[in-house]
Amino acid sequence: MLDDARPSAEAASTPGTVGRVAGVFVSFEGIDRSGKTTQARMLVDALGSEAVPVREPGGTPLGERVRDVIKDPQTEIGPHAEALLFAAARAELCRQVIRPALEAGRVVVSDRFLDSSLAYQGDARGLGVEEVLEMNRWATEGLVPDLTIYLAVDPADAARRSGEADRFEDEGLLLQERVRDAYERLVEAEPSRFRRVDGSLPPDAVHAEVLALVGAARAAAV
Ligand SMILES: Nc1ncnc2c1ncn2[C@@H]1O[C@H](COP(=O)(O)OP(=O)(O)O)[C@@H](O)[C@H]1O
Ligand SMILES: [Mg+2]
Repeated sequence: MLDDARPSAEAASTPGTVGRVAGVFVSFEGIDRSGKTTQARMLVDALGSEAVPVREPGGTPLGERVRDVIKDPQTEIGPHAEALLFAAARAELCRQVIRPALEAGRVVVSDRFLDSSLAYQGDARGLGVEEVLEMNRWATEGLVPDLTIYLAVDPADAARRSGEADRFEDEGLLLQERVRDAYERLVEAEPSRFRRVDGSLPPDAVHAEVLALVGAARAAAV
């Protein structure tokens, strides 16, 4: 478990860190089609019953409804509302699913988490990384992943992969390049939490690296 999640006299009085005992929280991040869903599934399969898979936005009744709204191209959403919707879904996911799972000592595997908001809304959409982080800290009551695996893939290569098209992918390569640059800055700014993995490797090779990283994070948590 990382410093900001480790139980201590100080942490015990900080909302959001209470009860973080034995569980490990792993998130996958990266541009669209970088392989997040593929790798999250492979990790969940490898962990078996210890794993609690979650996806963003979603994972709760509210979150799934928010997901439908966000992904619906017929519904116009400004950048501020979009950021708030993601944060609302995330707040509910933390409260209903992630926190209870961590308290029960499980391994939470999240397909995207708050860094997606920082990269897309904060940086690429221009709302400001600090502002979006502040709002999300409030929404999640300070819950941060122990390990965030960033799958680094060239946006042009990712675009050639087949996959689900959504609001963001429709906006094309320029947005994906901005998001990639945003992620690179986040990884550089927080090297203790992020691990950068070459997502252009074959899925099995990426998975082997993921397993090693998760194994190290679990060893650090006990
Ligand atoms: N390491 C990889 N190399 C090549 N193609 C991949 C790799 N990982 C996933 N893919 C393929 O790329 C597409 C997008 O993968 P996906 O896991 O859905 O990405 P994301 O969830 O990041 O958008 C899928 O068609 C998937 O089969
Ligand atoms: Mg996906």
